[in-house]
Amino acid sequence: LWTTSHIAEDNIKAVREKVGTDQVILGLSGGVDSSVVAALLHKAIDQQLTCVFVDTGLLRLHEGDQVMATFAQHMGVKVIRVDAEQRYLHALQGVTDPEQKRKIIGGLFIDIFDEEAGKLSNAKWLAQGTIYPDVIESAGSKSGKAHLIKSHHNVGGLPENMTLKLVEPLRDLFKDEVRKLGLELGLPADMVFRHPFPGPGLGVRILGEVKKEFADLLRKADAIFIEELYRHDLYDKVSQAFAVFLPVKSVGVMGDGRRYDYVIAIRAVETIDFMTARWAHLPYEFLDLISRRIINEVAGISRVTYDISGKPPATIEWE
Ligand code: XMP
Repeated sequence: LWTTSHIAEDNIKAVREKVGTDQVILGLSGGVDSSVVAALLHKAIDQQLTCVFVDTGLLRLHEGDQVMATFAQHMGVKVIRVDAEQRYLHALQGVTDPEQKRKIIGGLFIDIFDEEAGKLSNAKWLAQGTIYPDVIESAGSKSGKAHLIKSHHNVGGLPENMTLKLVEPLRDLFKDEVRKLGLELGLPADMVFRHPFPGPGLGVRILGEVKKEFADLLRKADAIFIEELYRHDLYDKVSQAFAVFLPVKSVGVMGDGRRYDYVIAIRAVETIDFMTARWAHLPYEFLDLISRRIINEVAGISRVTYDISGKPPATIEWE
């Protein structure tokens, strides 16, 4: 019988048989797939697992702390948190081209992961959250964005001198099966049903050059939007929702004074496969609330716009 608990049990057994008493290393991003692998491997091999969580400084509000709370504090998983914000900001300084930004962010991730893996000299296995659609996707395309997405997301592009063997326990599973498995393994529902978040993170949601000031403004605005989506029971009705930072200034009035501040765009889409998408027809009252809250609560933002572009021609992310 192909039930989730069999998937969990069978997988736990398979992993144990495969890795024996060896040490395993996993890149934990906080996304669904790597989280489920972490939970599964923790059940299977406990302290033989070491996770590396790279805090790029391009994550959402409190995301790093939440990942640590869930896995390290709550579950007792061994997690090395690497605070790499300064390195990322430095590497991205002056860079405005989207693909260049993606390359830098992905490349730095691999460097940092490799450094950490090097310190764990007794690790024999690299665990990855590859799922069945990734397997199909990478078979079909040799280059382009699909490959980039996969390679960054699943740490697929590790240096060739790395001698680690691969363990990919989700390789045969579809996304909905991965989610069920995650719940079964005791991961919180909001983690398991979270919207997708791109590997380059806020790096592709801050248009043009990435600066800490912009990331901080964007994090606050994004958190307000997401919080209200949950509160209004809209989070699960849209496939993906987020804020985008536009590095242009616009005039506004505040009390007696004028302000000349930045612009935030709000995006929410409905889609089955993320290949095409329609913009979510969120209620006007809801959009009104989001706009008011962001402008009132995020000093430095004077205007909020709602993105009404479908995919195609617009992509879901702005970069
Ligand atoms: P687009 O913007 O191409 O996005 O319509 C489709 C889906 O892919 C996500 N996305 C990425 N994921 N690395 C990732 O891991 C990336 O570079 C990347 N770019 C886009 C996007 O969030 C959406 O879910």
